[in-house]
Amino acid sequence: MKLNKAFYLIILCPLVISAQSGLGSFSYEDFKTPKYCGSACHTDFYQQWKQAMMSQAYTHEWDEIEYFKLAVPHADKDEKVAEVKAGCNGCHSPIAYLAGDVPPPPPSKNSRANESVSCDVCHSISGFAGDIPYNYNYIMKPGKVKFSSRKPSVESPAHEIEVNSLLKSGDFCGICHNEKSPYGAWVKTTHLEWKEGPYSKEGVQCQDCHMPKAEMKTASMGAKYSDARLHLFHGAHDPGKIRGAIELRINPDINEVEPGNIVKFTVALFNQKTGHKFPTGSVEDRIVWLHVEAIDSKGNVYHIPVDKKGFEGEEFTIASDVLAYQDLGIALNIPDFKGVKRDGIPIGDRIFRMPYFDPQGRMTIQQWNTASLGVDYRIGPRETKIETFTFKVPANVPPGKLKVTATLNYQLLVKPVADFLGVPESESQIVKVNEHSTEITILQ
Ligand code: HEC
Ligand code: HEC
Ligand code: HEC
Ligand code: HEC
Repeated sequence: MKLNKAFYLIILCPLVISAQSGLGSFSYEDFKTPKYCGSACHTDFYQQWKQAMMSQAYTHEWDEIEYFKLAVPHADKDEKVAEVKAGCNGCHSPIAYLAGDVPPPPPSKNSRANESVSCDVCHSISGFAGDIPYNYNYIMKPGKVKFSSRKPSVESPAHEIEVNSLLKSGDFCGICHNEKSPYGAWVKTTHLEWKEGPYSKEGVQCQDCHMPKAEMKTASMGAKYSDARLHLFHGAHDPGKIRGAIELRINPDINEVEPGNIVKFTVALFNQKTGHKFPTGSVEDRIVWLHVEAIDSKGNVYHIPVDKKGFEGEEFTIASDVLAYQDLGIALNIPDFKGVKRDGIPIGDRIFRMPYFDPQGRMTIQQWNTASLGVDYRIGPRETKIETFTFKVPANVPPGKLKVTATLNYQLLVKPVADFLGVPESESQIVKVNEHSTEITILQ
């Protein structure tokens, strides 16, 4: 017996070392607080991180609502998704997950779960298990040694540093920015989108756009670097990052028309800024839509719906007033819940999205309850999409200029869902990505 045990230990040891760090495999005390890292030494990085979503991944209102009001009760009722009660925090509050604190106290209790994605989470990651980074498959080694992409010129008095080239690769980010649902659907693929897109092939990493290089000290007692990696992590919660992500142009097919005639407007949307698709990440929540309207010389406004292209699943990419998200009723204890409006935007506008479907085939914003995905009608990195808008000029349009404007809008969370769940307004405010206008002349 004894011999056998030793034998298995020797054989299994290498496997154990490279396995994903699991629920309850550490305690909170194994990790330093961000305050500890940031109060005397890494003061600038700490302040940057504090203003980024990374420091709020557990405490931000929408995260709190979705986890405590939807995911936890749902996990308690449905065996199939039970794992998310612990799993959400594998990414949103890794130290709570690693400490086996399930569910952690709510944010108002100010527990260490609130540290969210902290300094010592990222700087204790030595690698990931398997071939593809996803679902918090990090291998954690907290302790005296911190992992970084290079050795500093001045030695740290607080810890040692081991160089780990994973930290300068986009694969590092994929550990939390790729997610598979309990049904096996890829519900978050920012890293995979980047990997198959043009940027990764050119060697442009996530860090190059989200942790830009600038002249700064990386620690107060250290030297200035010309290429310190700012810890900004600016993303969709930064309207400045969203603005201009897509460039757009609208043109008519004819410059002068008589009332009653037909004009076709073409809009080109060029994704010049994102390293992955737009939108990416929490695609189940996001809505990006193209609104086109004309204003005549008397100030009358005409909304022009998009022309249908005829692809499969297109109905999910054209705004309508159908209801969806019926599976919110599971966690909220509303039997036969009718759902809320799917889009909450002007009917007939083009939506750039990929719908998520629950096991019953209904559209859902609950990525953990996602069994399949619909048409992927998002704008890929450096892709240009073309949309047309056919307008029959009404007989009563006055002569003169007709100004036609195409506007691309963005919301973090579809408004009917935000309103229904009482999510703060900031999460459903409209951010204008871009806009362009053209003119035609209406003849007598
Ligand atoms: C989401 C993960 C993540 C978090 C959170 C994070 N870092 Fe980093 N940090 C990185 C990565 C990745 C790099 C290396 C980037 C590169 O070289 O491309 C890095 C680099 C650094 C460096 C070395 C910079 C250099 O130029 O050599 C320091 C110092 C550092 N981080 C400190 C901190 C501190 C302090 C915090 C908390 C306030 C923190 N980090 C939070 C991922 C993170
Ligand atoms: C340990 C998990 C983890 C790792 C590793 C990680 N992230 Fe994140 N990241 C998160 C979570 C969780 C959020 C969501 C915060 C929230 O709740 O909105 C987030 C948010 C972000 C955002 C902000 C999005 C927004 O809506 O504003 C950006 C940008 C981002 N991460 C980029 C990166 C990059 C670049 C890397 C690699 C250098 C990285 N992340 C590594 C977990 C991680
Ligand atoms: C070429 C620059 C570029 C690269 C490379 C890049 N991004 Fe982004 N990223 C952006 C821009 C611009 C936005 C804002 C528009 C948007 O939300 O997509 C963004 C948005 C995001 C968001 C917020 C999405 C949301 O809806 O909340 C996350 C998260 C993110 N990026 C993570 C990553 C990760 C992880 C990688 C690498 C796998 C990466 N990015 C590579 C430019 C880039
Ligand atoms: C594999 C890692 C991972 C897991 C597991 C995960 N998330 Fe996330 N979550 C993220 C990342 C990364 C983002 C940011 C993506 C983006 O910016 O679009 C995010 C974004 C969110 C957001 C949107 C935040 C906002 O303000 O727009 C909410 C809410 C959320 N997650 C809740 C949950 C819940 C609830 C669970 C469990 C059912 C969960 N997450 C599981 C990584 C994860």
